[in-house]
Amino acid sequence: MEASRGVSLLLLAIIGCSACVVCRAQIPIPATTDGFVYGGKPPTWGEAVVVEVFNDPICGYCRDAWPVLKKVVDHYGSRVSLIWHPFPLPYHSYSFIASRSLHTVNRINSSFVFPLLENFFKYQEDYYNQPTYKKPTAVVVDEITKNLVLPIIGKSNLDAYRAGFNDSRSDQATRISFKYGCARGVTWTPYFFINGIPIKDSDSPLEYNYWISTLDPLVAKK
Ligand SMILES: *[C@@H]1O[C@H](CO)[C@@H](O)[C@H](O)[C@H]1NC(C)=O
Ligand SMILES: *[C@@H]1O[C@H](CO)[C@@H](O)[C@H](O)[C@H]1NC(C)=O
Repeated sequence: MEASRGVSLLLLAIIGCSACVVCRAQIPIPATTDGFVYGGKPPTWGEAVVVEVFNDPICGYCRDAWPVLKKVVDHYGSRVSLIWHPFPLPYHSYSFIASRSLHTVNRINSSFVFPLLENFFKYQEDYYNQPTYKKPTAVVVDEITKNLVLPIIGKSNLDAYRAGFNDSRSDQATRISFKYGCARGVTWTPYFFINGIPIKDSDSPLEYNYWISTLDPLVAKK
């Protein structure tokens, strides 16, 4: 009895240690911080209140939360900055591709990012798991390019987009977005941080009034 317990404990210790080794693998460090700055208002360190949101472009809750978030951030002008992070949930088949698409247009011209995101939100139901289930990936990528990306970037940028989407750098950037969210404990979307602190109610729809009552006192302290 005692001997087998000893063996089990030893086994547990070995498994535990190998898990630690996996946890401790270094996440690749990107050349710049992850995320896209909304509205051309990058935060000035120590000045603006920084709201960060982790969103999946194919997530219905993210789509629903977006108009209120925009309204709130617009309301505060330069006193509140919004950083938008892609967080492709693994159970949404096309969210990695959608997030990669955003990274790709960002490399062409950062002003394409939010119009494209809004296209993803508007038409995301066409790219849910069910309607895309029987389609080859190449067909879906092509549909996204023609229906959502092209109207934003225009024909003149199409070749650059296709090449960029196929470039390992856009793949890497999207992986880093995901890993970055994981490193900060993001487990669903939308997931919010204010000045780096996670917002516990992130999973329920946050009303305009919630944001105002949370941000007003912070902005007032500036
Ligand atoms: C990026 O796009 C905006 C809006 O379409 C345009 O005004 C700007 O000139 C573009 N910037 C570059 C570097 O092409
Ligand atoms: C994407 O890359 C692969 C291999 O690098 C290449 O064969 C293919 O033609 C490329 N596709 C596009 C659209 O650039």
